Amino acid sequence: MRFQGKVALVMGAGASAPGWSNGKAVSVLLAREGARIAALDFNQDNLQPTLDAVAEVGGDSLPLIADVTRSDQVKAAVDATITRYGRIDILFNNVGLQALGGPEDISEETWDRLMSANVKSVMLACKYALPAMRAQRSGVIINNSSLAAISFLYPSIAYSSSKGAIDAFTRNLAVQVAPEGIRVVAVRPGLIATPRITHRLRERFGSDYQKALEDRHRVVPMGRMGEAWDVAHAVAFLASDEARYITATELVIDGGLSASALGQPWSGERNL
Ligand SMILES: NC(=O)c1ccc[n+]([C@@H]2O[C@H](COP(=O)([O-])OP(=O)(O)OC[C@H]3O[C@@H](n4cnc5c(N)ncnc54)[C@H](O)[C@@H]3O)[C@@H](O)[C@H]2O)c1
Repeated sequence: MRFQGKVALVMGAGASAPGWSNGKAVSVLLAREGARIAALDFNQDNLQPTLDAVAEVGGDSLPLIADVTRSDQVKAAVDATITRYGRIDILFNNVGLQALGGPEDISEETWDRLMSANVKSVMLACKYALPAMRAQRSGVIINNSSLAAISFLYPSIAYSSSKGAIDAFTRNLAVQVAPEGIRVVAVRPGLIATPRITHRLRERFGSDYQKALEDRHRVVPMGRMGEAWDVAHAVAFLASDEARYITATELVIDGGLSASALGQPWSGERNL
């Protein structure tokens, strides 16, 4: 029960398709270990399975319907969390939209939409949650970045740029608030088989879906894409007191993908 008495505000706590998204797995894992969960999403249908799953493990949650790009709505959600639970110990900034293509493929509107949902949202959540953490002289902010921040996975100029901005934001804020007992870290997931990704692969590859999925598994040195639970366990560790001396950094969760230049798992042969 590492999080007994603690309150976690999870942004993007729902799942955009049935199954275990990162926000849903994090909400359930923290709740299972005692945290009360302020679960925010702008889509009630996406959020409800998370609320049900938190209740199933005996957790307590506060549903918050809000758009993370809207300053007034984020402020209202933070205020509602404080009113209900009195504090915020963990803030998980997890909303992240994807758009494929390079600068010639995407519109200015798409660029602005991603920067707003992926980066401005993090700034707004921190702006309104930090005063409570400062008053407590404790708290941890965990931002969901991506391997795409530092490595090419596919053409995704807006997504990769937004995740790079999240890494820079994380390090800069972490140093600002370190003297006040507040930690700021990021997780850097690689290829994770969340419902959003598998749904998109199904739409894109149709009857070749299984092959497309297997191709993705195959490029990872550990031989498989990650699951939302792999991300959730890393987030839980970073949120816990066991990580009390860890701040201003990113935790890589990618089965070795970012360290491998082979584009396929190593064969295991020692005498090449
Ligand atoms: N799946 C992967 O391979 C992978 C890899 C690296 C990083 N990530 C990151 O993980 C995060 C979550 O991804 P996922 O696939 O688990 O999530 P998801 O897309 O299934 O769920 C995110 C939730 O955010 C909500 N949301 C979207 N825009 C919102 C807004 N403006 N305001 C409030 N809520 C909003 C959606 O309704 C949805 O329920 C993202 O930041 C993503 O970039 C995912």
